[in-house]
Amino acid sequence: MKRIAISSFKGGTAKTSTALHVGSALAKFHKKKVLLIDFDAQANLTTGLGFDPDESDSLAPVLQGNKTLKEVIKKTCIQNLDLVPADTWLERVEVTGQLAADRYSHERLRDIIKDAPYDYIIIDTPPSLCWLTESALIAAQHALVCATPEFYSIKGLERLSQFMESIGQRHPLNVLGVVLSFWNIRGKSNDAFLEVIEKTFPEKILKTKIRRDISVSEASIYGKPIFETMPSSRAAEDYLSITKEILKRL
Ligand SMILES: Nc1ncnc2c1ncn2[C@@H]1O[C@H](COP(=O)(O)OP(=O)(O)OP(=O)(O)O)[C@@H](O)[C@H]1O
Ligand SMILES: [Mg+2]
Repeated sequence: MKRIAISSFKGGTAKTSTALHVGSALAKFHKKKVLLIDFDAQANLTTGLGFDPDESDSLAPVLQGNKTLKEVIKKTCIQNLDLVPADTWLERVEVTGQLAADRYSHERLRDIIKDAPYDYIIIDTPPSLCWLTESALIAAQHALVCATPEFYSIKGLERLSQFMESIGQRHPLNVLGVVLSFWNIRGKSNDAFLEVIEKTFPEKILKTKIRRDISVSEASIYGKPIFETMPSSRAAEDYLSITKEILKRL
């Protein structure tokens, strides 16, 4: 079983969209058994799959030892694709209840998911280097880094790389690739951006770039991935292609 954390230091780099579409593509087109974990209190992955975060349990009670993983897993509209929803309880879960006194609370997520019966577990993280993100990176063997072709997004990668390196000293963690979204094939600074990323994450930039495409945000209104709402869109094409690339790297 492969566990992949999706992360970036910055907000709005398409982490959630990447988790949703790579996960859906693995389940729908590659017949893999996939569990998506929404590990961000914003719960965008949860709503993106048509669930109401106020109506379901998140991993919070599981982390606190009050529920089992199985009890909080939901089936989604895609066969072989399951979801652990998020809710606002995830925010500051580490300073609450049982976790507050646990020096090794960062390792709980890893222990909870390590024997779950899936081919892939994909964890979506918040846009900060917080307890949730650290736990996700410890629980994962692989990380996908998300970025956009913007100066602040690229700058944030240096911090993320240092953060990952410090985690990697204690827990094995492989950077699977850098996913660039909101890509404009005619962007004037594309080469300059790619060069900076290459310096921070050598040989990690995935060849496929996810182009800017309104169908990504439209799909979230319907609570379904674009493979269901706009299967012939260019973003659907890009996500399919990047999933194949990721599978090759695994
Ligand atoms: N390729 C794309 N083209 C157009 N819009 C996109 C694309 N990818 C994502 N979006 C939209 O951009 C917004 C931000 O994307 P997303 O939520 O995936 O980013 P995020 O990194 O998870 O954000 P956050 O840091 O807040 O968790 C969403 O409204 C999403 O629908
Ligand atoms: Mg997100």
